[in-house]
Amino acid sequence: MNSSKTALLMGASGLVGNYLVFKLLQSDRYEKVITLVRKPMHLKHPKLEERVVDFDQLTPGDVAGAEDVFCCLGTTIRQAGSKEAFQKVDLVYPVQIGKLALEAGARQYLLVSSIGANAQSSIFYSKTKGEVEARIAALGYPNYTIFRPSMLLGKRKEFRLGEELGKVFDLLLSPLTLLVPPFRKYKGIQASKVASAMLDIASQEVPGQHILESDDLQRY
Ligand SMILES: NC(=O)c1ccc[n+]([C@@H]2O[C@H](COP(=O)([O-])OP(=O)(O)OC[C@H]3O[C@@H](n4cnc5c(N)ncnc54)[C@H](OP(=O)(O)O)[C@@H]3O)[C@@H](O)[C@H]2O)c1
Repeated sequence: MNSSKTALLMGASGLVGNYLVFKLLQSDRYEKVITLVRKPMHLKHPKLEERVVDFDQLTPGDVAGAEDVFCCLGTTIRQAGSKEAFQKVDLVYPVQIGKLALEAGARQYLLVSSIGANAQSSIFYSKTKGEVEARIAALGYPNYTIFRPSMLLGKRKEFRLGEELGKVFDLLLSPLTLLVPPFRKYKGIQASKVASAMLDIASQEVPGQHILESDDLQRY
């Protein structure tokens, strides 16, 4: 295993990103893990370089050294305060960082998108996710993988009513997913599995563009 790679991770303080940062730090593949954060996380590790950045004023220096780019950024319209603010986090920042990192020499981009992502969707969230997928594809990374999880499962610091209701729905759906295979992709997925899949796919370095749907992620 090549242990001389540098990972760049956005969203390290989030549910998927937090699992991923520890997996990256433990991986033999990486000698350095750079996190882009808006406020310090106070994590200490010899391989870790935390860069506190202004996401509205990103510079080439913010992404310098990146080889594999992992994007776990995300918010909700409610958290962000408006559709425009949501789009910044879920669309503008991931694309800007992708562009800067590619110009700086990065060769892989791994994006957490969402089930139902579709640039033509009439649902704003799904449309934004479809658009971010397409705009990063257009950047031209040699290796680009999109991960489309269904509802993420895992312990959050804050309470999200929608997700708690979703967990009940997930329990009700479980027997159906066993009986009706097309329903499998709607089953909730552990955030740690998404993080494991991202590390595994990055390590395989498979050229081209790929999409992993939620049911593909369940095997991790
Ligand atoms: N939740 C679900 O069930 C679900 C389902 C399917 C897909 N997804 C998608 O999966 C991805 C990961 O989700 P998650 O639940 O792991 O995310 P999360 O826990 O909400 O974490 C989001 C990350 O984005 C960062 N972020 C949010 N607003 C920001 C801003 N204005 N500027 C800079 N950074 C900002 C957060 O940093 P701070 O700590 O600084 O806020 C955090 O690191 C997202 O793209 C989400 O849309 C989620």
